[in-house]
Amino acid sequence: METEKQLENKPKCVLITGCSSGFGFLAALGAAQNGFDVIATMRNLDKSQPLKTALSSANLSARIEQLDVTSPQSVADFAKKSGPVDILVNNAGILITGSFLDQTEAEMRKIFETNYFGIVNLTRAIAPGMMERKTGRIINIASLAGLVGHPFNAAYAASKHALVGFTKSIRVELAPFGIDVISIEPGYHRTEIIGANANQSDNFYNRQSPMFTWNRGFLRVMFEEILPRAGHPQDVADLILNLMTAKKPKPHYIIGKDARFAATLQWLGFGPWLERKVVRKIRRATRLENKREEEKKSRRTKGRADRIQADL
Ligand SMILES: NC(=O)c1ccc[n+]([C@@H]2O[C@H](COP(=O)([O-])OP(=O)(O)OC[C@H]3O[C@@H](n4cnc5c(N)ncnc54)[C@H](OP(=O)(O)O)[C@@H]3O)[C@@H](O)[C@H]2O)c1
Repeated sequence: METEKQLENKPKCVLITGCSSGFGFLAALGAAQNGFDVIATMRNLDKSQPLKTALSSANLSARIEQLDVTSPQSVADFAKKSGPVDILVNNAGILITGSFLDQTEAEMRKIFETNYFGIVNLTRAIAPGMMERKTGRIINIASLAGLVGHPFNAAYAASKHALVGFTKSIRVELAPFGIDVISIEPGYHRTEIIGANANQSDNFYNRQSPMFTWNRGFLRVMFEEILPRAGHPQDVADLILNLMTAKKPKPHYIIGKDARFAATLQWLGFGPWLERKVVRKIRRATRLENKREEEKKSRRTKGRADRIQADL
């Protein structure tokens, strides 16, 4: 049996989901650097080598465990063996881009399974231990898209709004048990969610869709205007790390220039002005995409006519 003093000096156990890349990877590394007992989880352990290499080259250690937040079995198996968790960082998330008209119901449900139900299920598995010990902290990685709309990512925005609502609600339920529940709402940051993990809905390039060129117009705005200004993921990882030890954390934190800009405008009542600006940008980009399509079509028609003429 450990004495109270021993328990006080014991490093706090931090459980982080989605540590194969991005914020989770950097937060796990940072937490190990800062002396936490880290359980870095990922759904696919084949992707664990970069984290293992980063840890060992810094002479650090962390437990790397398999955890797919969408699998009730994986969550239950993990909860049985994890031991007491002091800080839970619900970070795992996915994005599937495309108009709500083109996205399939299965794609929308997949987003919710990961970004909302995955977090709810894991939190329900971990929170009772914290309640018993009357201490704990839960840090949910939401998004700016949990505060404002995100066109061509409606299901993602809806899942993050749901997560923000969940966070605000359980924050009150768990306060009497000495558990802080916090959300972070980052704007765009350069991680794999907009890189190797970037997904588009299956119907994104469906020419029959009335949203065909609009989807592409949105993508053009993303590539030309939004992504070049995306923040560095280390900033978010540093915030997560600070919140692991902050004495009196605030209920939520907005991070990134784009996020602060949009959230402030919304707060000041200028949300509709910002929406009109976004519509103008997407409309302009869509016009360019339409022009490109027309040029492609006329090149194809000309090529066909040339081939027919050559055959005659
Ligand atoms: N980067 C941004 O601009 C941004 C902005 C706002 C909010 N966010 C949020 O930040 C969080 C972290 O994303 P990121 O930007 O660091 O992107 P990332 O590099 O793509 O990392 C996402 C992580 O989530 C994991 N994941 C996905 N589905 C999972 C599941 N079912 N079970 C367990 N892990 C799963 C991924 O694992 P795999 O490698 O196996 O796919 C990956 O490790 C997400 O919740 C995202 O919505 C990101």
